[in-house]
Amino acid sequence: MSLLRTKPVDQLTGDGGHTALRRTLGLVPLIALSVGATLGTGIFVVLGEAAPVAGPAVAVSFAVAGLAALFSALSYAELAGAVPVSGSAYSYTYATLGELVAWVCGWCLLLEYGVSVAAVATGWSGYLDAFLEAALGVRLPEAITGGVVDLPAAVVVLLATAVLLGGVRESAAVTTVTTVLKVLVLLFFVVVAVVGFQARNLEPFAPAGVAGITGAASLVFFSFIGFDAASTAGEEARNPQRDLPRAIMISLAIVTVVYVVVALTAVGAAGVDALTGSDASLATALGQLTDEVWPVAVLSAGAVVAIASVVLTVLYGQTRVLVAMSRDGLVPKVFSRVGARRVPTSNTVIVGVVVAVLAALVPLGQLAEATSIGTLVAFGLVNVGVIVLRRTRPDLPRGFRTPWVPVVPLLGLGLCALLVAGLAPATWLAFGIWTVVGLVVYFAYGRRHSTLARQAPAQGE
Ligand code: ALA
Repeated sequence: MSLLRTKPVDQLTGDGGHTALRRTLGLVPLIALSVGATLGTGIFVVLGEAAPVAGPAVAVSFAVAGLAALFSALSYAELAGAVPVSGSAYSYTYATLGELVAWVCGWCLLLEYGVSVAAVATGWSGYLDAFLEAALGVRLPEAITGGVVDLPAAVVVLLATAVLLGGVRESAAVTTVTTVLKVLVLLFFVVVAVVGFQARNLEPFAPAGVAGITGAASLVFFSFIGFDAASTAGEEARNPQRDLPRAIMISLAIVTVVYVVVALTAVGAAGVDALTGSDASLATALGQLTDEVWPVAVLSAGAVVAIASVVLTVLYGQTRVLVAMSRDGLVPKVFSRVGARRVPTSNTVIVGVVVAVLAALVPLGQLAEATSIGTLVAFGLVNVGVIVLRRTRPDLPRGFRTPWVPVVPLLGLGLCALLVAGLAPATWLAFGIWTVVGLVVYFAYGRRHSTLARQAPAQGE
């Protein structure tokens, strides 16, 4: 039946062949894109929310969340190499699990990318405030930093929109520089924290036991979101088959090591209590370690840059997922129209404005959880997609092959389910409502406008 119609892989990649997007990205910018999309509010802010849940073992929680991401990353790597177009998990599921599942997946990606940008931008606002206080001794009025509206959060989203409108080459260069900068800033934090490290801060190591560790893992999963961002740039990669899988795996390795080391040294140096309940937890921890103000100013400045680059890259990902969905007719054509600079102009403007409004009005907290659940579901579908594509298209050239199929994808699926189980029931409910709204949109619009349905009405029926 039509809900199960799949888009042939060759047609998907063929679509990419006559795209007007430019193929400019090599391996390094792709890694920078993924790391840039990943290191941000999660480690700089959400660490402070997870630390009291797991205790010092929050470092282990990062490793557990990283493991869930790793199994799914292996699946992502295979599909990104086999179906190298811009739509990420959405395109992969379209090729493997059919149109309805692809739509649900694309709808989840709106949470992973679009909604999370708003949440991430709110974290940026907290560090901007910390920076202004440390560097200049001034604080922004509370009414405009989340009290009534979050103005800095909206501004950072609009700035990122402007950069993206300038074209991907410039955006990739900006991303590479900012990504290197933020890794250096986190290294700076680690060095200061290692000097102040006290083993007794790590005791008791896991006061809430295994449940505490997995509960915190569900929370910090947010910090891994974005490592797959390179997969949204399939059509702008110079050698997607080879470089996309590599970029995804290398990015994940980099961020996992950074997170575990930062979490361990942060807790070891400042203790769990110092990290808890601050909008800028790493800055607060650093403030406890030194009497000087400049280290806090340096770290906050780094976080401001770091989180801004997450906003930039995740926003980029969102526009490219919408290009793919629009090309397939599931969302209106305006999202795939490419402008003079070979940038999907209207798409970028619409996404930028909507996300800026969200960022101004919606607080971080539960949004981060909603983002995580959307991502975990999308990852789960990607794991299933690998198993299905191995059966339906064993012949397809694959730049990377997931080892031990179906064991590894099934483990990935299981870990995603475990982390979903660790989220709050209110989050499950919110996600249920989100999915129902998505289905209504699909049946009211996407199903009738689907390009695939018009090209080959009989296919898959
Ligand atoms: N992984 C992204 C962050 O931590 C969403 O900000």
